[in-house]
Amino acid sequence: MFEVRPTSSAEEFGRAVDAIGQYFGGPLTEERIDRFRQVLPFDRMHAAFEDGAIIGGAGAFPFEFSVPGNVLRCGGISVVGVYPTHRRRGVLRAMMDAQLRDIHEREEPIAALWASEETIYGRFGYGLAAWCGEINLERVWNAYARPLEPRGRVRFVTPEEAARLFPPVWDALMRERPGVFQRTKAWWELRRLRIPDEEKANPKHLAVLELDGTVQAYAIYRQLPSFEDGSSNARLEVSEVIGTTPQATAEMWRFVLDIDWYATLSCSLLPVDHALFTLLATPRRARYRLGDSLWLRLVDVGAALSGREYATDGSIVFDVHDAVCPWNAGRWKLDGGSAVRTDATADLALDVGELGSAYLGAVSFAQLRDGLQVEELSDGAVERADAIFGWRPLPWCPEIF
Ligand SMILES: CC(C)(COP(=O)(O)OP(=O)(O)OC[C@H]1O[C@@H](n2cnc3c(N)ncnc32)[C@H](O)[C@@H]1OP(=O)(O)O)[C@@H](O)C(=O)NCCC(=O)NCCS
Repeated sequence: MFEVRPTSSAEEFGRAVDAIGQYFGGPLTEERIDRFRQVLPFDRMHAAFEDGAIIGGAGAFPFEFSVPGNVLRCGGISVVGVYPTHRRRGVLRAMMDAQLRDIHEREEPIAALWASEETIYGRFGYGLAAWCGEINLERVWNAYARPLEPRGRVRFVTPEEAARLFPPVWDALMRERPGVFQRTKAWWELRRLRIPDEEKANPKHLAVLELDGTVQAYAIYRQLPSFEDGSSNARLEVSEVIGTTPQATAEMWRFVLDIDWYATLSCSLLPVDHALFTLLATPRRARYRLGDSLWLRLVDVGAALSGREYATDGSIVFDVHDAVCPWNAGRWKLDGGSAVRTDATADLALDVGELGSAYLGAVSFAQLRDGLQVEELSDGAVERADAIFGWRPLPWCPEIF
């Protein structure tokens, strides 16, 4: 038998995080654990114990997270792992149960995660709530469709300057798009801007675009050099280009696209509605490959539904199934942006995971109905729900956490 509870010491915390370390390779050093503790408090790291030994771990970053028209508290699920010696004995299920109850008690209405495999989290009420994709663009195809008159100036910055100049740009993205989590000062420094030892010989480049006297965009990228038959075959790995206006985004991307030597530019985690696809003259050449991004869980259906804005003020009644968090199960009426319990006849019957899929606006109820995941109980309910929930721009989470 095993028990699940939050960790309460550095030693327990390290061993619990080490459960996922079994799969990422390499032991966790004390230095890495120390860094991690600065973004994930002990009591947000659950561990499964058997006879005093830790056999699994599951963490939840205390996030502020953008949803349509608002920002909500959110459990950012991460470092979930079960030791290979104890797999398929219900350890993950027990940790998910304990973690969701903890998130509920903390009054975080939603939880979000990136899934290592799409088959794991649906059973715990998480739904696929955002898409993203990777591009691999050969330099020869980097032209824009329309001429661009750059007005700003690009300059490189140190990590210390970046820690001051990048966050306001990121915060603007958070106001613009659902799916963005707030980066704390420690997160910026330790997880985004720090140059790990293994990258010191070829560190990432940090650049800002100054326009009209302010920083309006930034870029983080690395050049990975290689030569073939005497010619450069380098890859330019772009990890983030974020701008506060269309002009700034277009100029920052132009700077990156024009860098010499690369043969292929790669960038992952781009949303389908990213400006690059309308800026480029030949977006087909970007060889965009779509995949799942965030998975979302409504931990408190009432608070979550009342916590976002909607495209219209319509009314709809959901019959929600939730086997893991029974406090959510039953009928909910969303009317004028507020959700309350109701005895009214339901328009749509669905699992809480499907409601999570529709929540950020990336997956429509029509798609869910066509995938046989939502039952339409009254005529036109799917169209009505889509008119209420639809949201632009689409959610975008530019970082795997
Ligand atoms: C994925 C992982 C956490 C599962 O842990 P586990 O303790 O073996 O899972 P459980 O025994 O609690 O399984 C719970 C349910 O999930 C299912 N499940 C577990 N892992 C699964 C997987 N990889 N794919 C599909 N289903 C899976 C089980 O079959 C079980 O289903 P059931 O309730 O219908 O019987 C573990 O295998 C692991 O650490 N994998 C490598 C790291 C990883 O992928 N972590 C997730 C990071 S996002």
